[in-house]
Amino acid sequence: KSSSPSAAEAKSEAAKSVKIGIYFATWWALNVVFNIYNKKVLNAYPYPWLTSTLSLACGSLMMLVSWATKIAEPPKINLEFWKALFPVAVAHTIGHVAATVSMSKVAVSFTHIIKSGEPAFSVIVSRFLLGERFPPAVYLSLVPIIGGCGLAALTELNFNMTGLGKDYFLYLCFMRLMSTISLKPSTLFSSFMGAMISNLAFVFRNIFSKKGMKGKSISGMNYYACLSMLSLLILTPFAIAVEGPHMWAAGWKEVVSEIGPQFIWWVAAQSIFYHLYNQVSYMSLDEISPLTFSVGNTMKRISVIVSSIIIFRTPVQPINALGAAIAILGTFLYSQAKA
Ligand code: 3PG
Repeated sequence: KSSSPSAAEAKSEAAKSVKIGIYFATWWALNVVFNIYNKKVLNAYPYPWLTSTLSLACGSLMMLVSWATKIAEPPKINLEFWKALFPVAVAHTIGHVAATVSMSKVAVSFTHIIKSGEPAFSVIVSRFLLGERFPPAVYLSLVPIIGGCGLAALTELNFNMTGLGKDYFLYLCFMRLMSTISLKPSTLFSSFMGAMISNLAFVFRNIFSKKGMKGKSISGMNYYACLSMLSLLILTPFAIAVEGPHMWAAGWKEVVSEIGPQFIWWVAAQSIFYHLYNQVSYMSLDEISPLTFSVGNTMKRISVIVSSIIIFRTPVQPINALGAAIAILGTFLYSQAKA
């Protein structure tokens, strides 16, 4: 066997890279739309336990219909599969609801800054739980990725500004900044903790999902579908206990009178895009390591920030652009260190 890869191997490697590139681009683009509608919904209707449950319910329904109509091939799974999936679904449920609660309390950018630390959680969990070590260059490359993303997110991401004049927009940014500063420390702390819990839970989820998919006939898409269904069963009773139909109904009356029936479409968009972006992210997790997944998830936040700058004309400081550039450079260094 020759030591250099054959032309066929090199070709299949290149094809794999292109495929992963397409998955990443799709994952990030779908996530941008999710972020827009998620914040619009939470601003108007601050019931994160319900909206988290609806996202899972919508995804589960979409997949059940896809299986029934043979748009997607249903997986061949047994009770053992569901048992093994249970802890992964617990982690997915916790990570999802914690992030949504965090985003419901403060500006989205705050949650994104904290969540940019996910790769650090991934290496720590891999090291202490699985005894997995990475070359020093890999650890070092995470510093610019996390730091750069944190700097880039140090701006107000507000997705409701279309059509407003610039002065009014700046005024709103100022007011938002003031209200963030004057938030009760307990609100800031719970938002911070929500994002940190989400980081940890998603790292467990990613590592055990990867193990669950490895060598099995189930695809990333179907694995995520089953994960959604089981998470929905886990989350529903907690959502009812924490918020419950009385709160939801009262909030609903208010939101319908303020925004009108179009609010339903915001919820639908938020839920559909939540499922789609996660589904595509699982299609990539099937092909990459949990650490590369977390790096991709952090870089996704750069795409959210950049798109909010382009679409919503979010005013940015040079420090934000510098942060994005540092994070992108860090990702390049990571890919080199991994290779
Ligand atoms: C969620 O609800 O799962 C979060 O809003 C998104 O978290 P992520 O950006 O890590 O996917």
